[in-house]
Amino acid sequence: MRGVVLISGSGSNLQSLIDTSEQSKMDIRAVFSDQAEAYGLERARTAHVPAHFVDPGQYAGREEFDRELQGQIDAYEPQLLLLAGFMRILSPQFVNHFAGHILNIHPSLLPRYRGLHTHRRVLEAGDRQHGCSIHFVTDELDGGPLIAQAQIDVLAQDDETTLSARVQQREHKLYPLVVSWFATERLRTHDGVAWLDGEPLSKPVVYAQDEEIR
Ligand code: GAR
Repeated sequence: MRGVVLISGSGSNLQSLIDTSEQSKMDIRAVFSDQAEAYGLERARTAHVPAHFVDPGQYAGREEFDRELQGQIDAYEPQLLLLAGFMRILSPQFVNHFAGHILNIHPSLLPRYRGLHTHRRVLEAGDRQHGCSIHFVTDELDGGPLIAQAQIDVLAQDDETTLSARVQQREHKLYPLVVSWFATERLRTHDGVAWLDGEPLSKPVVYAQDEEIR
């Protein structure tokens, strides 16, 4: 399956998708970033994947930028678009163009903590559990149909750095797994929910703290 990945930063999730692309049956055709300095672009080049920076500063507004990004992505004819730490809100027109074919990974147990600074907010709230979620993207921010989540326990000594590191360890396993479900046609979305193996998911597939993700 042809995939395109969108990033804004370090690209550790991109790296895990590159490293597992054979098992997950997704061939990453290109990587796009809205940040020139995103280290993920370097990771893509090292893996011989075309790496593109599209500069938001060159466009009058969100719609114009998204239209340009959409055109450049379309040239690769992706069947799946993966947001992997892409930190821009996408316009409804962009999301609708790729509807049913965009996934996002988010560092919280959605619907808790949509948006930014999830690790800090978990610590401030005194939550005992945290984790990451993968969902289909709709034009509602972090609100599309949930597919899978991986949980971690929050420890008394945790700070944002340690929490984020443990959440990311789980992300790097969960994203390739969910991608493999999509690439093998086990996963789709319609009627506002995710469907896995022909069944609608009334709740996401959840991997508990000590459960192996495979
Ligand atoms: C990941 O933890 C991802 O969940 C988060 O950004 C990080 C990117 O790390 N995404 C969001 O916050 C999206 N709202 P990476 O660049 O090392 O993959």
